[in-house]
Order: sequence, then structure tokens, then C-alpha cells
Amino acid sequence: MRRVYMDANATTPLLPEVVEAMRPYWLEHFGNASSIHLHGQQAHKAVDYARETMAEFFNCHAAEVVFNSGGTEGDNTAVFGLLHPGDHFITTSIEHSAVIQAANRMAQYGVETTFVAPQPSGLIDPNDILRAVRPETRLISVMLANNETGVRQPVEEIGKIAADTGIFFHIDAVQGAGKVKIDVRSIGCHLLSISAHKVHGPKGVGAMFVRRGTPVESLLVGGSHERRQRAGTENVPGIVGLGKAAELAMHSLEDGTISKLAGLRDRLETEILKIPGTGLNGGGVVDGKPVPRAANTTNIYFDQLEGEALVIALDLKGVSVSGGSACHSGATEPSHVLMAMGVNKARARASLRFSLLKTVTEADVDYVLQVIPEAVEHLRALSPVAAGTLG
Ligand SMILES: Cc1ncc(COP(=O)(O)O)c(C=O)c1O
Repeated sequence: MRRVYMDANATTPLLPEVVEAMRPYWLEHFGNASSIHLHGQQAHKAVDYARETMAEFFNCHAAEVVFNSGGTEGDNTAVFGLLHPGDHFITTSIEHSAVIQAANRMAQYGVETTFVAPQPSGLIDPNDILRAVRPETRLISVMLANNETGVRQPVEEIGKIAADTGIFFHIDAVQGAGKVKIDVRSIGCHLLSISAHKVHGPKGVGAMFVRRGTPVESLLVGGSHERRQRAGTENVPGIVGLGKAAELAMHSLEDGTISKLAGLRDRLETEILKIPGTGLNGGGVVDGKPVPRAANTTNIYFDQLEGEALVIALDLKGVSVSGGSACHSGATEPSHVLMAMGVNKARARASLRFSLLKTVTEADVDYVLQVIPEAVEHLRALSPVAAGTLG
């Protein structure tokens, strides 16, 4: 049976070039980047090279790149590392839990958070951010692209608000990286987090842009690694893999791969939306303009269905996708992102996220389009609620 993976926002496979780049750093060049002998120097040089690549990726100085363990650590570092008792924090209700849970924890330490809600399109209105600003606001954190809908947030405009009001600005670019060109200088952010495993790099490694002079405290203390900004022996093979993946990601943005990906996503979306009782969550057209989205993501509801049943049915047909619900301690909760956008519980539960790899082919899309209508029809036929209600 054919297998098609359309869950790239959960994770991506390593590209062969990334595996090849990492291989020597597990075997012959296994040194600790802090050691002064040859083995150490080889490891140090590899980390430096990856740092230069990340500086190009972010458009910053190499000294402003901090390697860490991934998106969760980057997001936590922004929140825990910058906020103090009495500060006010502005974020959004559609952030990843790595930001939302960090904000919730800071409440115990006297940091109040305003969670700005999105519009039904999934977009955050920069005016809502501005309205939330108080004299004691110290940090704004907004994601570049949402992990569930792909909707791209107006970070440049939010960056201007942050600059005008003298507030630190963090961007969770975990899902935007590789799909949107990142330029920290033109955005004007102070911090930006990314994760290697979402861009065909290894799991458990990431990087953060930290603008020079930003007083962010390290979460981990110990050695003086990463210019004292992140203690712990560098994960040299992981960092090398991230550097290679970032280099390939920059090429993909320039050589048409990402535009082609958007075309395949659009075809998939248009065809699925022809099935009765379906619709798009996030995106669409607002004020005559299409809502910008990451090239690989679409989120679609299938009325009169349990999304989870459809995920399982598609899995049995060889297609991997995600549902609009997350399992928390055994209970299925509808997605907080879709709920914040005003999608009702039944629709949020009936939603699926398709997130395509940049290596997706026309044949993959054809296969998914072949199996979805059958699976939907079959499940709806089993559902007494659906009988005769959809035209
Ligand atoms: C938007 C966003 N932020 C942060 C993370 C966490 O990244 P990591 O898996 O590297 O900890 C994810 C992962 O799904 C994400 O989608």
C-alpha cells in the first residue's frame, strides 16, 4: 500500500544531505566543542559553521545565534528569561502550549498575561495588540505561522508596535521557518525561536536569535557555553544537522520548491472542499485579500464526522494526517486554536490538518484525493446523525 505523510507540522524526516552532514560528528569528529585539542577544535569549527548559516537564515550576526534543544526551550526562554514579578505580558490565544503554559506558570510569580484572540480568519489584529499595551508591558510574543491553520501573523506590524512602545518582542517561528523567509532586522524582533525537526533537521535541537543586548536570562546554568546564554555541552551532530537543514531550506525558498508546494496544497484543498459538508478553518479572503498562510498547511472541517475517526480511517488507507483535537489525560479536547477562532466544538472535533512536506509529489496528492471521499462517505454512512442531512 502507498504511504503518504501529510503531517509535516508535527515533524519532518531528515533529508539525506542532513544525515550525511551529521554522520562524521557522531563517529570520527565526536569531540566536545569546548575542548582545546584537535577533536575539540573540529567540533568547535562545525558549530561555528552552523552558527554562520543560522545567522544567514535569520539575517543577524553569528554572535546573536544561540543553539538550544528546540522550539519549546526557545519559547520558554523568552517568557521565563525576560519577565519579572509585576511585569505584564501580551501573547495570543492561538500560540503553541510552550508559550501559553509558560505564561500560565508566570501568573504564580506575579506576571499578568493578556491573551489576544484572533479574528475568525485566524489572523491576529495588530490593533488588538496595541490596545492591550500597558505601562508595565515588558514582552509581546506572537507566532510567525500557526501550527494548525498555517495562518501567517502580521509580525512586521507588531514589530513596529513593539519598537514604538519600547517593548521586547519574541516570535515563535517554529512553523514559519522554511516556509517564510525570515529577516529579524526588518521585523525588528528581539528574540525568535525555531526548531530543527520541523525543517528536515534532527529532533531535540533548535536555535534562537537573541538581539545583542537583550537581557534574557538563561534557563540552564552551568558551563559558559553559547556565550553564557545556554549552559550544556553543545549537541554537535544536532547543530550540524540544523545548519544543513537551514541551508537547504533557504534554497527551497529561492528555487521554487515552496511555491510549488503551495500549488499542491491549493489543489488538495480545492478538491477536498468539493465534498459536501466541508469548509476551511482559517485562511480564506478578508477585505478582498487572501489571508496569508504557510505554503504547506490547510485545515478543513468535515461536518457530521469525528475527526479522529477520519484520521484513523485515512491511516488505514496509508495517509498520515492530524485531527483538530488533542488528547489530554485520556480525554479528547477540541483544538484551542480553532476554538479561539470561534469554531464550534463539533466542527473543531470534525477538523483535520493536512500539512505537506516540501518533498510531496502530484502523485501523493492524487492518492489522498482518491481515498478521502470514500473514507468520508463510509464514515458518514455509519453515522445516524449524518443520514440525509448533507446535500
Ligand atoms: C508553533 C510551535 N511552537 C513550538 C513548538 C515546539 O517545538 P519543539 O517540538 O521543538 O519543542 C511547536 C511544535 O509543534 C510548534 O508547532
